[in-house]
Amino acid sequence: MAASAVKEVQARVDELRAELNHHLYRYHVLDDPEISDAAYDRLYDELEALEDEHPDLIAPDSPTQRVGAPLSDRFQKVQHLTPMGSLEKVTDDENLFKWADDVRRRLDSDEPVSYVIEPKIDGLAISLTYENGLLTRGATRGDGIQGEDVTVNLKTIKAIPLRILGGDAPPVAEVRGEVYLPLSGFRELNERIAELGQKLAPNPRNAAAGSLRQKDSSITASRPLSIWVYGLGAHEGLQLSSHWEELEWLREHGFRTNPFAERLESIEEVAERCRDWERRRTELDYEIDGIVIKVDSLEQQAILGALHSRPRWARAFKWAPMTAQTKLLKIAIRVGRTGALNPWAMLEPVQVGGVTVSKATLHNEEDINRKDIREGDMVIVQRAGDVIPQVVGPAGPHAKGTRPFRMPEKCPLCGTKVEKPEGEAMHRCPNRSCPSRGLETLINWVQGPADIDGVGEQLMRRLWQLELVRSLPDLYRLTKEQLLELEGFQEKSASNATEAIERSKRTPFSRVLLGLNVPDVGWVTAQNLARHFGSIERIAEAAPEDIQEVEGIGPERAEAIAEWFSDEENLRLVGELRKVGLRLEAGPEERPVEGPLTGSTYVITGTLESFSRDEARKALEAKGAKVADSVSKKTTGVIAGESPGSKLAKAEKDGVPILDEAALKKLLRS
Ligand code: IVH
Repeated sequence: MAASAVKEVQARVDELRAELNHHLYRYHVLDDPEISDAAYDRLYDELEALEDEHPDLIAPDSPTQRVGAPLSDRFQKVQHLTPMGSLEKVTDDENLFKWADDVRRRLDSDEPVSYVIEPKIDGLAISLTYENGLLTRGATRGDGIQGEDVTVNLKTIKAIPLRILGGDAPPVAEVRGEVYLPLSGFRELNERIAELGQKLAPNPRNAAAGSLRQKDSSITASRPLSIWVYGLGAHEGLQLSSHWEELEWLREHGFRTNPFAERLESIEEVAERCRDWERRRTELDYEIDGIVIKVDSLEQQAILGALHSRPRWARAFKWAPMTAQTKLLKIAIRVGRTGALNPWAMLEPVQVGGVTVSKATLHNEEDINRKDIREGDMVIVQRAGDVIPQVVGPAGPHAKGTRPFRMPEKCPLCGTKVEKPEGEAMHRCPNRSCPSRGLETLINWVQGPADIDGVGEQLMRRLWQLELVRSLPDLYRLTKEQLLELEGFQEKSASNATEAIERSKRTPFSRVLLGLNVPDVGWVTAQNLARHFGSIERIAEAAPEDIQEVEGIGPERAEAIAEWFSDEENLRLVGELRKVGLRLEAGPEERPVEGPLTGSTYVITGTLESFSRDEARKALEAKGAKVADSVSKKTTGVIAGESPGSKLAKAEKDGVPILDEAALKKLLRS
C-alpha cells in the first residue's frame, strides 16, 4: 500500500477513535448521549474493519481494545504507587463533632476548615494508573499496598477513559475510585444467574467484585459496571491545592465524578447533610453505605497526616445497610386480637441495618401474591427507620417446587372456618372465644395502651401458657410470689414487674377503652368517646343514635360499639376491671386543652419528616386542636406528609384546606 494511502487510513482511524471516545464519554460519564446506539455501532464497525485490515494500526487506547484475550493464569500482584488507605468511621453526630474538634486542634491555626462530602459508594476500590495520559494499569485495592492487576477487565468499563481527556495529561497520575454495579443491573444479573440455576449474588458489591475478577473479560464486559472516581493517588506535574480542585480536574479530564459531592463550610452543615442522605439513600440507583467527609485543603491534609494508613483528614459517616437477601422459610399466621389472620414471614436470620432480622410483616393473601413471594424463595428484606422489616419482593425467580400462597381455610388456633368479608382484604376467625384473641389483647395492652415497663410479649406468652393470666383482670391479680416461681425471676425483677403493673392502673380512661378491643375503636375514637361520655357506664348505656353524636362515628360503627357493650361477657369484663382498679372515668387529662387552636379539627395523613403522626397529633392537641381520623365537613384542614392516602383526595374533593409540614410548623408556633 502506498505511503499516502496508509496515512489516509491512519487519519480516518484517528478520527473514528476520537469520535467514538467522545460518544463513550457523553454516554457513560456524562449520561447525556448525542447520538443513537445504532449510529455509534456504525462508527465502531467501521473502525473495527479498518483495524482488521491494518493490525499494525491497533492502539491500546482504541475503543475496540476494551475486551482483551482471556487470562490463562491468575491476576498478577501489583504494588500501588502510593498505598490505598482506608477510612475511619463515625456513626453519630457526637463522634463527627469530636473528629472536627480534633482536626482543629491538630491544625492549630485560625484558618477555617472546609469539608467536601461525597456519597460512600458500596462497591470496590480500584486504582487506575495513567502514564502520559494512557491507561497502563488498573488494580484492585487488595491489602492497600498490593492489589491485583485487573487492567483487562477494568478496560471493559466504558466509563473509564482509556486515555485522559485534553492535551495536558501529566506524566503520571493514579486515579482512584469505586467500581459498582447499579441496582437495576444487579437485579437483571441475578435474574440471568437464576435462569442458569446458579447461586445468586447476595448484594451489588459482591456481584461487582465477582464481575471484576473474571478470567474472561468478555464476561466482565457483559456486566453493566460503572465507576465513581473520587480522588488522585500519586501524581506528577499537577498543581492542585484542594480536594475540590482534584475533583474538578478529574471531571474536566473525562472521569466520572459523583454529582452529589459538595463543599461545606461547617461541620454542622456536614452533620445535617449526612442525616438528609440517610433518608435519601434509596433514591439512588446504586448502594451507598454512608457519606465520606474530607478536609478540603491539601495543605491541611498534609499537616494532619494518617494513622495506620487511615487519614486523619477524612472520616466515613456510616450507616448500616438497609436491605438484605435471605430465605423465606415459611409464611406463618398469627391470629390477632380482633380475629384477623395476619400472615408474617419467618426468615433465615440476616443482618439488616445493623440488627438481625428473622421475621417480617406480610399484610394479607393478596399482598403476598402481588409481591409474588412463596415459601422457599430467596427474598429481599428491607428496613426503613424504626419500621418493622418488610419483604419487598423475590430476589430472583421462584425456587423449584414452590406454590403460590393460600390462606388456611381453618383458624390455626381453634379450627373454626375462616371468613373473608366482602370487600375486606383480611381473613378472619369468627370465633369470639378463639384463644388467640385473649392472648393478643393482653400483648397489645402491655405494649400499647398501658405500656408497662419490663412486661412484654414474651412474659405474656409464658403467663398465658401457664394459665396464670388469661384476661386483663388476671394480669392485675398476678402476685410477686407467682412471678418468683417462674424461671429467670428474682426478688428484684419480680417486684419491678408487679410494681409496674400496679402503676399501670393509672392508665387514662381513653387508653383503657383502646385496650378493650371494641371493634373499630382506634385512639382518636377512644379519646372522643371518653370525652363525650365521661365514663364507661355512660357508653354502655348509650343507644347507637347517641354514639353517632360522637365526632367521627358513623351509623355502622355506632352500631358495632353499642353491640359490644350489650354483650354480657364484655360487661362482666368491664365490671372486673373496675374491681381491680382500672380507671373507667375520664380524668382531667382527657379534657381538651384550651389554646389558640381550640375549635379547630385537623386530619393527619402521610409521613411527616420531623414528627411521627402521634407526635404531630399531641402537638396539635396541646394547642387545643382536635385531631380526627377522617375528613368531614367539620375538618378545618388536612395535614399531608409524604405519600398521603385517600384522605388527601377526599380533602381536595371537598375543598378542605391542605397544609404541608411547613404550614403545620407555622400553625404550632401560633
Ligand atoms: S476516599 C484513604 N471516597 O471506602 C482512603 N473512599 O474505607 C480514602 N469509598 O476503600 C478513600 N466511596 O473503597 C473515598 N467517595 C469516596 C468513597 C470511598 C467509597 C470506599 C473505598 C475505600 C473505603 C474506605
